[in-house]
Amino acid sequence: MTEHTQVKMAEMKYDKDRPKAKHELKVEDISLRDGHQSLFATRGRTEDMIPVAERMDEIGFWAVEVWGGATFDAMHRFLGEDPWERLRTLKRYFKKTPFSMLLRGQNLVGYRNYADDVAKLFVKKTVDNGMEVFRTFDALNDYRNFETVVPVIKECGAHFQGCICYTLTEPRIGGDVYTLEYYIQKAKDLEAMGADSICVKDMAGLLAPYDAYKLIKALKDNVKPLIHLHSHFTSGMSPMSHFKAIEAGVDIIDTCLTPYAYRTSHAALEPFVMSLLGTNRDTGFDINALADINEILEKQIMPKYKHLLDNTKVSGIDINVLLHQTPGGMLSNLVNQLRDMDALDKMDDVLKELPRVRKELGQIPLVTPTSQIVGIQTVNNVLFDTPEERYKMVTAQVKDLCYGLYGKTSVPIDPEVQKKALKGYERGEKPITCRPAQVLEPELEKAKQEIGDLAVDDEDLILYALFPVTGKKFLMQKYGKEQVPESLKPITLEDVAKQDALIEKAKKGELVEKTRLEDIPEKSEYARTFNVFVEGDYFEVGVDEVGGAPVITYAAPAAAPAPVAAPAAPVVQAAPAQPAAPAPKPAPAAKETPAPAESAGTPVKAPMPGMVIKYEKNEGDAVNEGETVVVIEAMKMENALPAPTSGVIKSINYKSGDSVAKGEVLAVIE
Ligand code: CO
Repeated sequence: MTEHTQVKMAEMKYDKDRPKAKHELKVEDISLRDGHQSLFATRGRTEDMIPVAERMDEIGFWAVEVWGGATFDAMHRFLGEDPWERLRTLKRYFKKTPFSMLLRGQNLVGYRNYADDVAKLFVKKTVDNGMEVFRTFDALNDYRNFETVVPVIKECGAHFQGCICYTLTEPRIGGDVYTLEYYIQKAKDLEAMGADSICVKDMAGLLAPYDAYKLIKALKDNVKPLIHLHSHFTSGMSPMSHFKAIEAGVDIIDTCLTPYAYRTSHAALEPFVMSLLGTNRDTGFDINALADINEILEKQIMPKYKHLLDNTKVSGIDINVLLHQTPGGMLSNLVNQLRDMDALDKMDDVLKELPRVRKELGQIPLVTPTSQIVGIQTVNNVLFDTPEERYKMVTAQVKDLCYGLYGKTSVPIDPEVQKKALKGYERGEKPITCRPAQVLEPELEKAKQEIGDLAVDDEDLILYALFPVTGKKFLMQKYGKEQVPESLKPITLEDVAKQDALIEKAKKGELVEKTRLEDIPEKSEYARTFNVFVEGDYFEVGVDEVGGAPVITYAAPAAAPAPVAAPAAPVVQAAPAQPAAPAPKPAPAAKETPAPAESAGTPVKAPMPGMVIKYEKNEGDAVNEGETVVVIEAMKMENALPAPTSGVIKSINYKSGDSVAKGEVLAVIE
């Protein structure tokens, strides 16, 4: 009998008072950050964490991850929530369990390297607001990008957890870059930097069970800090990998509570608690207490998010990850991007081009933001390159990468690609080799001047410094200078019940069809769109609040775009309609961008849907062919759109912060 089964079944106690294990497995719960980031696009709201917070605090987690990664961005951009407020609020409920966050090294919680002054203030303010464990990673595993934040983490008395991003170029550890020696060396580097613990960050679920055993054992044999494993379930291997890691002596693993587990998220905690019960790695957790938390999440919380879950797949495992060694999130981003550009048929080309682009860009690990950088450049290459010319449309981030602004790549960047990307690059055409942030000018003072009194405290200032466009928008809303759009407001269980009731009505045929187009009220800017699934059919339903209750203003099969006045679409209204109280604001006139006649000038069109970041030119400015006219952000990457011809800017049709659809005319050159 092995040591893992040393306790006889009859003596086994299920409650919390059972004998403590010799080498108790520590667990970090990551449901409230990575869990909802992975499963429902980081849309989890603070109000939906509070109902389970005190119970979670009782479980005995080593830490709970509640912040960082995409939460900072998603909260202020999509939820109308102040990210700092979440920390302070949750702290009132978690009295015992330390808070952990994901810190993207010098990228902090954004997508580029920020200047040292921003990084220092960010870490300090984060500790002030209740953070204790800083899980710090760099997408290139270039630890020079830790040099600014780590001393601040240490000075503040917080826990520095250094990450090694786990990546592969072939199905198993090995090849010519990502070998066992590579990982051991990275762990030694982190130990030398003073890491309190070391985390293997397997963001794509690539870590296979026997590799996990080999890797964790090697790390345990070579370095002293606690070893922590973070492995996504995406490929289906992670529970097995965790188990082998436990056998190899891993100290801490990351799991999610069952409703937030599996798919692109993480292994569920509860099966581990039961599997290890009575062994020398027993977690000591109370399975009944966990069941109570699950019940709350399942019944009171998850119904509000089910519309965000990926309903298109039956399978919970993405075998593409096994085939392509590419993060699942990256693949779904690619699919979305291609769909936005009506180019889904190019997916095979993209998968072929991807390893080539990755290699040319220095065989870098694929994790935020490098996964987006490589992914979007790949799509650009597939869509815009010609047989004569590759890298026709290079994103700003690829230029930054080629310049060395993200750090040192695992292998040198292809010199030809680098030269092309850096042609005319604003910082210079010769790449740097120093620590990237060394070339960045301080940013705080400039941010302070730009945002002025709208930033009331350092937390506001940081929000603006990290996200100038959306951060400013949020601060306007926070301080009542701009209305909070309906689309940012939470839905309640009652809303969910109403939607379900509508579906029931539709099933029974009780929704009255409106046939006369003039009866259809105009869709207001507050209208919210819901995806409604009725048996095999899928409808997109627009709901506009008139007076008290939601009224359906349109319903259309999701495939048909622009459903408001499409005569072919079935238009239904819940009967009877509430008497209209204050009429909804009329929809703002759609920006008319009629195709200009040849003589009216040359349009600069959005090649993809996105958000306008800034115009480099003003009306009346002269512009040369190839010069940047406007920068738009798509899939979080900035794309500089060049002038298709020389001339004078005749009109500029949008402003910073505006969303634009593919093909819309952003400016006209005459
Ligand atoms: Co993760």
